[in-house]
Order: sequence, then C-alpha cells, then structure tokens
Amino acid sequence: MSNKMWGGRFATGPDAIMEEINASIGFDQRLFRQDIAGSIAHATMLGETGILTHEDRDSIVAGLNEVLAEIEGGTFTFSRALEDIHMNVESRLREKIGDAAGRLHTARSRNDQVATDFKLYVRDTIDTLVVQVHTLQLALVERAEAEAETIMPGFTHLQSAQPVTFGHHLLAYVEMLGRDAGRLLDARKRLNESPLGSAALAGTPYPIDRHMTAEKLGFDRPTANSLDAVSDRDFILETLAAAAICAMHLSRFAEEMVIWSSAQFGFVRLSDKFTTGSSIMPQKRNPDAAELVRAKIGRILGALTSLLVVMKGLPLAYSKDMQEDKEVAFDALDALSLSLAAMTGMIGDMMANRERMRASASAGFSTATDIADWLVRELNIPFRDAHHITGQVVALAEQKGCELEGLTIEDFKTIDERIDSRIHKVLTVEASVAARQSYGGTAPANVLVQAARWKTLLTGQSHEPKLLGKKKHGGHGDGGVE
Ligand code: ARG
Repeated sequence: MSNKMWGGRFATGPDAIMEEINASIGFDQRLFRQDIAGSIAHATMLGETGILTHEDRDSIVAGLNEVLAEIEGGTFTFSRALEDIHMNVESRLREKIGDAAGRLHTARSRNDQVATDFKLYVRDTIDTLVVQVHTLQLALVERAEAEAETIMPGFTHLQSAQPVTFGHHLLAYVEMLGRDAGRLLDARKRLNESPLGSAALAGTPYPIDRHMTAEKLGFDRPTANSLDAVSDRDFILETLAAAAICAMHLSRFAEEMVIWSSAQFGFVRLSDKFTTGSSIMPQKRNPDAAELVRAKIGRILGALTSLLVVMKGLPLAYSKDMQEDKEVAFDALDALSLSLAAMTGMIGDMMANRERMRASASAGFSTATDIADWLVRELNIPFRDAHHITGQVVALAEQKGCELEGLTIEDFKTIDERIDSRIHKVLTVEASVAARQSYGGTAPANVLVQAARWKTLLTGQSHEPKLLGKKKHGGHGDGGVE
C-alpha cells in the first residue's frame, strides 16, 4: 500500500530498505512535545485568520492534546511506515477526529515543521544546559571560598611554577564556564526566529499570520526568508560548537581531577560515589567518571564535524540529508548534560588534601620568582640581574639539598652582599600567594572577592540578571508553549 500522507501518485509502497533508510521516527519521536506545540500554534492561527473554521480548529487542538497525553502516558504506538514524528502525530489525529485532521497541514509543510520543532527542542535544551552550567559554577564557587587559602603548586608545562591558591584554580573554571553559558545564550538569541509558515520553501498563498505563530511559540519574530528558514541548520551547528567548547573545558578539568587524585599527586580524593574499584587490584580507586567526562568531547566534536560535513555543499532549500542532523545532535547534547551533572557531583564530594598540596607547592624552589621580585623592589636591582642572582640562589639550595626557606642569611650573602635578613619573609609559599594581589591574581583576598562576585551573580542577589533558576522562556518539557 502506498503512503497515506503522500502516496497519491504512487502505485506501490516503499521497499523495506527504503523504509529503513528513510524513516526517522526511531529518533525524532523525541520531538513530540515540540511537534504538537507547533501544530497547536499553527491550527490556532489558522482559526484566527479564518482559514479554518473555529469548529475544525477546536477539534484539531483538542485532538492534539489527546495525542500528547497518549505519548506522554506511553500508550502511543509509533509506526515506521509513517516515517517521522510529524506524520505519526497527524495520522493518530485523523483516527481521533476524522477528516478535520487533514486540514491541519494547510499552509505548512514538513520542511518548516521540522525546522520549527528542532529549533524549539534546541532552545529548550540550551535553557536546561545553561542552568546546569550555572549549577556547576556555583558548586565550584562554594569550593573556591572554602579553599581560598589552600596553597597548591601552580603549573606551566605541568612543571611546578609558582604557588597558587586552590580557590583561584577552581575559579579559573568558573570563568570558562561563564563564557560557555554566554555562548549558549548567544546561540539561543540567534536561533529564536520562527520558520513556521515558510511552508515547503517558497511561502504560501494563504493569508496566514506568521507573527502570531511566532509569538505563540515564544519566538522573537518569524524568519524573513522562507528558503533560509527551511534549510538553515546553523542554529544546531552553533549550539554544537558552543557545546564542544564547553566539553573541552570540562575535559581539561577532568584531566586535572585524574592527575590530582593519583597516588603520586594525592591532592584530592574523589568520593566512592564517583570512582570505581578494580576487580584485580584491591588498592585501586579509579576516577572513571572524570575519565568519561574527559572523553565526551570526542562525540560532541564528532557531532559538530558530522553535521558540518552533511550541510556542506547542499543546495537550497530542504534536502533529506538534513534529517541526519538529529541523532548526532541529540547524542552530543545529552553527553554534555551528563558531563555537567557528573562534574557537579564530583566537585561537591571531592576532598582536598591541604597538607599534601602545600608540601608540593613549596617543593621545587617555587618561590624563586619572589626572591627576584624582592631584589628588584628592595634593592632596586634590574629584573634581569635579579633573575640571574636568583638562579645562583637556586643552584646553591640544590647543592645544599635544601629548599629556599632552608638557606641562611650567610648563604645568601655568599651570592650577593646586598641581601639582608628581610629576604626570609618572602620565601614562604604563604607570603608568595598573599603578595599576588594584582587584579585577577591568586591572593586569598582576591579569591574571596571574586567568589563573592560570582555567588551574587549566580544566585541573583544583585541588580545583574539572575542566572540560576531564571524563568525559562518556553522552558524544557512544555514544548516551548507560553
Ligand atoms: N523527517 C524529516 C526530517 O527530519 C522531516 C522533513 C521531511 N520533509 C520532506 N520533504 N520529506 O528532515
């Protein structure tokens, strides 16, 4: 039998393989809320503009709400022969309300329908992800406050460089995540134009009101070009790019967790809840959650690459190639959401080993730069010369087998007569971090100020936009309907 929805000119139905390659219902059923919300907005508008009778409009809207309840209740049977979510919903509507269902598709096409559905879905997902990013940021800010004075080695080239505070290190990720949320929200702003009513590609001769449907669905305005509207997928690409950058940040952090929780570093202990044991080596606590977060960038970047390649070279307007946008995007956005949740859990439970961090911070002559800075500041020695003198101090400590703190004033004087006992107070890691009070520097006092700034921003106790728990515009789960 040919397809009920478009099979008028077809003598037979599709080959089984054709059906298999063509159907998207296996994955696009996720769009049911958005699909039904879009159809309700469309039918309502058709009623308002007199294209449909109020009677037909009312029976379509009531029928669609019943279909929604069936899908939500798990009693709906999806059919592969009906290809996709759009035709599955419409076909069920026809079973429920009869011929009036056939009028729903007036002045639209699956091309503008799918673009609308997917935009609504991506918008809802962005809203959820942004809240998740803010939740992770808040968890980090709270840890940063608690660890404002905890001293750890700061690294460049993964070589011990200068002491920093653990709180400062954690706040570095808060900054990155803040930009990640900003990128997602930027993508949301650009995507928020309604394709609905662009029809197949050229618009429609019916006197529709696209502004009305746009408004009902929480869009800022209708798209201005019908060809663009049905063939644009850059809203997903942009969201995936933002997701990939965020996943990259999480991957760096996850890698640090893996390193820090190793026996060799021992800076942190991850909780039982986020580690696994080994079936053969009883002593092991493997940081699997961190490792998996480290890895997720692979599939997220893969999704971005995959969709860019699918879209490259496609002529306007819609081509079925575009159906390939969904699986990868669903997978990637799910992966980011899970990573954010896992990271938030790990941070909340992680225990910092402050003694271990401090001991490691003072190893490796990490306050050498502070000696050079002291020579410049107190003795007015040019920095290059001070650097050279400090190099000799380090060599002496190395030769004596002690840390810089272990050198006596006589030791210093053998290198440069001008050095006096005041040098001792800059040799400790505490003095080193406390001195770094330049704006954005690692000093505990700065960490507390920055943590407080973020806390206010994230919990909305300021005049700036409230970020956490912000009212979602067409939020998750309601299909984007106001
Ligand atoms: N399942 C399709 C997709 O995801 C819906 C649009 C189909 N349009 C068409 N003209 N066949 O892209």
